[in-house]
Amino acid sequence: MEYMSFWTLLQKGRRHLFGLVLPYKAKILVIGEGDGRFVAYAHKLRPDLDWIIIESSGKMIAEAKKRIQSRKISYLQADFLNFEDRDGTCFDAVFCPYFFSCLAQENFEKAMFSISKILKSGGILRMVDFRDPRSMDGIGQFLQSCVLKVLYLFFRKTAQLEANRLPKFDMLYEASFTLSKIPNDEYPAPFLIISTWTKK
Ligand SMILES: C[S@@+](CC[C@H](N)C(=O)[O-])C[C@H]1O[C@@H](n2cnc3c(N)ncnc32)[C@H](O)[C@@H]1O
Repeated sequence: MEYMSFWTLLQKGRRHLFGLVLPYKAKILVIGEGDGRFVAYAHKLRPDLDWIIIESSGKMIAEAKKRIQSRKISYLQADFLNFEDRDGTCFDAVFCPYFFSCLAQENFEKAMFSISKILKSGGILRMVDFRDPRSMDGIGQFLQSCVLKVLYLFFRKTAQLEANRLPKFDMLYEASFTLSKIPNDEYPAPFLIISTWTKK
C-alpha cells in the first residue's frame, strides 16, 4: 500500500525528472526545491554537478540543509520571480519539481521568460508537476480535477498559495521566448507529467 501511496508516487516523479544525460560538472539550477528531496537524490547520482537552489521559504531551506549539504550545493533564499542573476550565470539545466503548479498563469509565463534568459544555448528546462485535467479524459479527468481542487483549497488555506488552478504548461513559447518544447511528455504516474524544453 505504502509503495503505491501518493507521496511515494511524487518521489517517483522527482526521480524521473532527473533522468537526463548532463555534461560533466554541469551547472544546475533548481527552483522551488522545498525540503531537498530532489537534490538529495540527484546529488548522490551525480556528485560532480554544481547546484544552485532557489527557494523562497527559509523553513524549507533549513529542512533541505538538514537533508543534504555539500560544497557543490548553494542554497539561496529568494523569490525566483524577482531573481536577477547578476553574475550572468548560464545554466546547463533548470529543474522545477512541483514548482510551476504554485504559480498563477501570469507568473508562470514570467518564470519561463526568466528561465529562457539564464539557460545556456542548448540547455534544458525540465519540470515535473500535476497533469492538467484538460489534457485527460473520462474518469481520470474527473478524479484529477477533484484531487487538484482539494490540493489548491488546502494550500490556499495553509500556505496562502496565489494560484487556484494549474497554469497552461503547453502554451507555445517558441514565438515569444527562446525555449522550444520537446514533444515527448513523460508520465511517471497517471496524474503526473514531466515536460522538457530546450534553449535554442
Ligand atoms: C509545491 S512545493 C514543491 C516542493 C518540492 N520541490 C517538492 O518536490 O516537494 C513548491 C515550492 O516552491 C517554493 N516557491 C513557491 N514560489 C516560489 C518562488 N516564487 N520562488 C522560489 N520558490 C518558490 C515554495 O516555498 C515550495 O517550497
